Amino acid sequence: MNSLVRRSVQQLNRWRTYCVKHNAPEAASPGRNAGKPIYEEFIGRHQRQAQCSIVVQVSSEKSYAELYNYCSYFGSILGAHHYCVRQDETLHYILLEYATPGEAAAAIGAGVTNGELSGVPVRSPFLWFRAAGGGRRSPKLVPNPAPALLSLDGTQLVDQGQLLGLLRGAADIEEQVLQLYEHTRLNELGIRMRFLAALQVQQAIAGMFPAAQAQPFGSSVNGFGRMGCDLDLILRFDNDMGAKSPVEAAVPSRLVYHTKENLSNGRSQTQRHMECFGDMLHLFLPGVCHVRRILQARVPIIKYHHEHLDLEVDLSMSNLTGFYMSELLYMFGEMDPRVRPLTFTIRRWAQTCGLTNPSPGRWISNFSLTCLVMFFLQHLRQPILPTIGALAKAAESGDSRVTEDGINCTFTRNVDRLGFRSRNQSSLSELLLQFFEFYSQFDFHNRAISLNEGKPLSKPDHSAMYIVNPLEQLLNVSKNVSLEECERLRIEVRNAAWVLESEVENASVPEADGQELSWGLLNLFKHPEKAVIRPNMFFKPRMVEVSDLFEQKEAGATSSSTAPN
Ligand code: CTP
Ligand code: MG
Repeated sequence: MNSLVRRSVQQLNRWRTYCVKHNAPEAASPGRNAGKPIYEEFIGRHQRQAQCSIVVQVSSEKSYAELYNYCSYFGSILGAHHYCVRQDETLHYILLEYATPGEAAAAIGAGVTNGELSGVPVRSPFLWFRAAGGGRRSPKLVPNPAPALLSLDGTQLVDQGQLLGLLRGAADIEEQVLQLYEHTRLNELGIRMRFLAALQVQQAIAGMFPAAQAQPFGSSVNGFGRMGCDLDLILRFDNDMGAKSPVEAAVPSRLVYHTKENLSNGRSQTQRHMECFGDMLHLFLPGVCHVRRILQARVPIIKYHHEHLDLEVDLSMSNLTGFYMSELLYMFGEMDPRVRPLTFTIRRWAQTCGLTNPSPGRWISNFSLTCLVMFFLQHLRQPILPTIGALAKAAESGDSRVTEDGINCTFTRNVDRLGFRSRNQSSLSELLLQFFEFYSQFDFHNRAISLNEGKPLSKPDHSAMYIVNPLEQLLNVSKNVSLEECERLRIEVRNAAWVLESEVENASVPEADGQELSWGLLNLFKHPEKAVIRPNMFFKPRMVEVSDLFEQKEAGATSSSTAPN
């Protein structure tokens, strides 16, 4: 067996192990996601978990056994996670999950306000565990030993040094990509905390709006979030006002709600409601601080920090397409186990070379960058992802979703209906290199990127970078990107292709020689001047061969990505 074949076999085996570990049923043939939970199930499961959960501040993780015994009085505890929030001092919290929402409500209902300190007496799932003996008689303690905490300091980010060590010690680039993904993606506790923040907002207005929904969207739920990512939240007051139960449908109700009159301008009304809601968050919700209102933006938002969850939140009330866009990204991530690790690596690379920036501006956003990756995966000669157009075409009646402002977000939620099978067997390192090569040659000047069609289209205006918003197709997702930033992206992808080509071809991991050598992704994540120059790094990237990898698809050509087998 020659070394190239042996390497491919090793990579395939590692990839299969990875698929099995991540419950990807088609470990041997990428492209299927049969048996995976659909997005709505994923959202529903986490919403229910949040309803069953409370967060209790404790003096340290050592309080757990006592807390468990005390809280078991209200119901059976299924799980417990410990985490810390670092302010001037380290604060410790334990998230407890009960078996039912009623049990969590009983624990919350048994809370008291702190007699010694003044505070607005608001009930919420955020509590603290005071020393025994204060106030009321303690309930009967349960003698059961507490089960182990599921995670100790479960939101701590892996530090840079540790991560570099892991990448340095990996067997090859493939494993580096997987390690990076495994150690930086948002974990289960991070997701639970975000759903709890959403529930707190929802419960705060449940008196006036019993059917209100605060829905997380964006990277917190689409599977592309890293530890510490912001929570994007959409709050909808009462979208079920017109919904009819079967009895009501048979006998139309004669009781009509008296309501306040709507303002004639819908946008002003949303801004006004958000202003008022911002005050409510600021004045009443425990943990919520640094509330900022950004109401003049295209999508008005309220930003705040949650100090008990150490979380930044962006709350909007009028961005329902963002929610459905998150569903599309979630589906793409579930369709092939290479999609998320690849995207994480590209996002990390963009961060290290300063192409992305946590604050919004004229640079490319993580979301636009993710769209670039998805488009690349659709546009390969052997596509790894189907087009959004194909997903829309395969929709059934149950998939119909139209937002309040009339935007059609209908697409199939069952990708098996597409009959899409990817025959692409490229490794992660090959895909990474192909990504850089593809965008080194992409004609951003004349072409727009369409995930709906999976092929470049003529650019409808003079924006430096044009990514058609998949659900609002008259909008450009990357409208904010300046000409200079687009040019910088082209330069950086070219540099990355250059560095990575040398790394992929020199597949052997360099000997450490007592020194900490940098190789593979570590060189990619360095600024080019600082990268270790290895002998064949001066090869010109193989730009001419790139075209072989991609369909020469232009507007009008048919996409092969959706052809059923
Ligand atoms: N979104 C969109 N159109 C845009 C910008 C955002 O549909 N022009 C939607 C996407 O679903 C996106 C979500 O809003 O995932 C949240 O946007 P943002 O917070 O900018 O991106 P994230 O994907 O959450 O990435 P990050 O981790 O950087 O927050
Ligand atoms: Mg976000």
